[in-house]
Amino acid sequence: MELSPRLHTIAQQVPMGARLVDVGTDHGYLPVWLLLNHQIKSAVAADLREGPLSHARETSRQHGLSESISFRLCDGLADIKADEVDTVVLAGMGGETIAAILKAAPWTRQEKLLILQPMTGAPRLRLWLQDHGYTIIKEAICCEGKKLYSIWIVAGGVMPPLSPAEQWAGVNCSVALRLDYLNMLESKAEKALCGHKAAQIPEQAAIAYLEEVLTGLREMKKELESNDHSS
Ligand SMILES: C[S@@+](CC[C@H](N)C(=O)[O-])C[C@H]1O[C@@H](n2cnc3c(N)ncnc32)[C@H](O)[C@@H]1O
Repeated sequence: MELSPRLHTIAQQVPMGARLVDVGTDHGYLPVWLLLNHQIKSAVAADLREGPLSHARETSRQHGLSESISFRLCDGLADIKADEVDTVVLAGMGGETIAAILKAAPWTRQEKLLILQPMTGAPRLRLWLQDHGYTIIKEAICCEGKKLYSIWIVAGGVMPPLSPAEQWAGVNCSVALRLDYLNMLESKAEKALCGHKAAQIPEQAAIAYLEEVLTGLREMKKELESNDHSS
């Protein structure tokens, strides 16, 4: 069984011997792959809907793992006990959904490793994490098709205040695909800024914020490029 590049990058972040819950598991590819590769000790596969969860049951049956995974039909982490997992994956969902799931399970701040991969709303989710006692330890970037995805390793803790550009891109660091990621965000911010400037009643606060985002993103790019030249 092969994982997509995005799921494979997520799998690489899961610690050896983890007791995992994959929230919004859909086909259950991640827990099945991790069990087949002997990377995790136990797996809970959770989903809000019966359809995806039955796909996950089918994937596990095909690989002889029906008895090895605990399946939960629930909203977020509602039916997961804090002491049965040490690693929580929330991937392929919107940032608002991820925040709502974490909000309803404050135990995720205590000695758990969270692997988050929001599909939308990354700036707001980074801010939400900062305001709710979580810290982003590390970010990885991967490319699937023409899209770039960022994957965050998060734990309970204090995160230093994020600048507007850091809300968009995370703290600058020299990881694979970082420059492509910054370029992608720069064009997204430029488009958003153009949209705001062209509005009949331009929102000055939004314009000032996006200008700050763009300045910060460009500084990050320069920093990366100068690091590349000096190494
Ligand atoms: C696009 S799939 C992502 C599947 C997989 N996690 C991945 O990254 O490829 C999103 C899944 O999240 C589930 N989902 C959405 N909201 C949820 C919630 N509040 N609690 C649990 N699962 C949820 C959906 O039913 C769907 O199966």
